[in-house]
Amino acid sequence: MKRGKGMKFVGDSRVRADKPKFIPKDYSEYPGRTEAFWPNFLLKEWLVGAVFLVGFLCLTIAHPAPLEKLADPTDTAYVPLPDWYFLFLYQLLKYKFASGAFNVLGSVVIPGLAFGALFLAPFLDRGKERRPHKRPISTGLMLLSIVAIFWLTFEAAHHVDWEAKAENNKPELPEENAVEIDQSDPGYEVYQANSCIQCHGDDLSGGAAAPSLIGTEHGVDEIKDIAVNGIGTMPADQFAGSDEELQQLAEFIVSVNEQAAEGD
Ligand code: HEC
Repeated sequence: MKRGKGMKFVGDSRVRADKPKFIPKDYSEYPGRTEAFWPNFLLKEWLVGAVFLVGFLCLTIAHPAPLEKLADPTDTAYVPLPDWYFLFLYQLLKYKFASGAFNVLGSVVIPGLAFGALFLAPFLDRGKERRPHKRPISTGLMLLSIVAIFWLTFEAAHHVDWEAKAENNKPELPEENAVEIDQSDPGYEVYQANSCIQCHGDDLSGGAAAPSLIGTEHGVDEIKDIAVNGIGTMPADQFAGSDEELQQLAEFIVSVNEQAAEGD
């Protein structure tokens, strides 16, 4: 048997040259310009999509999205804003007919109807026409939504003091020379075992009940004395342990301070 006989080979020998060409279906019976969905239309869509995707990718690399500053639950002046693409929904909730008692209207019913209609559009509008001016209802509704979205977005953005917001949102970087606490230090274990940690914090940085122990001027002997006898508003008898542990505790606090002083 002679293999390959009667076949013409092209560049890729696995593709037969006499393979029938793909002929798109004839859509001329439909009015308006038409083309085959697969592969013609999809290929074009995909190409345009790819261009945008790469464009956005470059944009996000060149201008990374900024983070706001750390969330602060005590800051009552902070006005949370949605991202720009949701500003129109946010603005909608400011109108009387869509807020307060009518909140459900503004948050569920109106957006639900609008987006629901978008999903149902292919089923509601079954005309064969493709030219926009021959489909006045769909075109009109679409134009109306576009105008509404632009207007609401503009209205929302217009009332925000962007510069003040940007200023307020500058990220706060963590302090660089924060002291690292060696938690395996025997002194830290004594610190933990006694009540010190409850007031002075697990990193010695203090809290609502007590000042930071980092930056204290007291030496080993003074700290031993404070731990037993208290100082100022710090109650006495906070330490309950052996003399050896007391020594370790005081030396630990002093060593953390020495380390902090070096870091400056
Ligand atoms: C009930 C909370 C509380 C506990 C528990 C506590 N402290 Fe204090 N500590 C304070 C307060 C409050 C001060 C500030 C006193 C003042 O200056 O009036 C203070 C101050 C100190 C100071 C002096 C800081 C400075 O530079 O002025 C040292 C040292 C200290 N504490 C060590 C300890 C140690 C060690 C322990 C554990 C044995 C401990 N504290 C447990 C509340 C506490």
